[in-house]
Amino acid sequence: MTGRVGDDDMVQERSGGAPAIERVGVVGCGLMGSGIAEVCARAGLDVLVREIDAGALEFGRKRLTESLQRGLRAGKVSEAEIEEALSHLSWTTDLSDMADRQLVVEAVMEDEELKAEVFGWLDKVLVADDAILASNTSSIPIMKLGMATERPEQVVGIHFFNPVPVLNLVEVVTTLLTSPETTARAAAFAAGPLHKQVIHSKDRAGFIVNALLIPYLLSAIRMLETGFASAADIDTGMVEGCNHPMGPLRLADLIGLDTTMAVADSLYAEFKEPLYAAPPLLARMVEAGLLGRKAGRGFYDYGH
Ligand SMILES: NC(=O)c1ccc[n+]([C@@H]2O[C@H](COP(=O)([O-])OP(=O)(O)OC[C@H]3O[C@@H](n4cnc5c(N)ncnc54)[C@H](O)[C@@H]3O)[C@@H](O)[C@H]2O)c1
Repeated sequence: MTGRVGDDDMVQERSGGAPAIERVGVVGCGLMGSGIAEVCARAGLDVLVREIDAGALEFGRKRLTESLQRGLRAGKVSEAEIEEALSHLSWTTDLSDMADRQLVVEAVMEDEELKAEVFGWLDKVLVADDAILASNTSSIPIMKLGMATERPEQVVGIHFFNPVPVLNLVEVVTTLLTSPETTARAAAFAAGPLHKQVIHSKDRAGFIVNALLIPYLLSAIRMLETGFASAADIDTGMVEGCNHPMGPLRLADLIGLDTTMAVADSLYAEFKEPLYAAPPLLARMVEAGLLGRKAGRGFYDYGH
């Protein structure tokens, strides 16, 4: 070949000419899974979503539809594009329906045992020899999920950010056993049809972004807990003083305090550093069900 090789060609070369990913599965349709399903459907991919029961499936479908409607109100998507996106989505409660998927993104709660169980199931169900099993985990080392399967070379982290339709970043996480082809296909999937900015991380709890972000959020919670300053002043300090789009306590509420705590626990388990230890206030709020925006109350009251 002569002339300059374009990025797409290079990705194709690195991924060994494997077929482009067209059929995607998403397991878990909560905050993240619904966003991942939405961006995949808007990219014209055939998307199958799995939830645990009909109620959770309906809740997830509603969340996804409302997000598209918000996009319509913001002028980011047209009625016709919404119709088109919805036509690419199908829904199931049966994990075995994932059999024909080329790539499945797992987005169930941040619970290692639950995720390992899902990966064990997917390994049994996925038919294609080169199917990719990806996790959207924020912090659990991907190797732990790879070892729950018989094909750890096809297991990779594809970590999206919340809200998925808005935030551009994806971390691709490669384990000691992930094949270069799997990494290249995962990166091509995120950068190609989904138009995401890809960064690569080694397989360490928290990867790049959460290893840096979580200690900051925990420091803000400790500051509140010790009576150092009010929640509003802590957040205003970082918004107005550092030009952050939102303060750390509001961000923790947006992420979900259960997820924030689970990520802190994974980081602490991996590195045993006090900066990753969840403060008691966070633990008490999670125990009380004050999980942040999704629960209507966390550090702030969201009135629903
Ligand atoms: N919340 C964030 O800001 C954020 C950002 C990036 C990554 N993540 C990661 O994404 C994952 C999901 O987080 P979330 O915030 O969407 O959680 P969530 O609690 O909103 O959603 C999890 C969903 O998984 C479903 N589920 C549980 N077991 C299932 C199963 N066996 N099969 C299918 N569905 C199942 C639940 O019913 C629920 O709807 C976690 O690993 C989290 O760490 C979260």
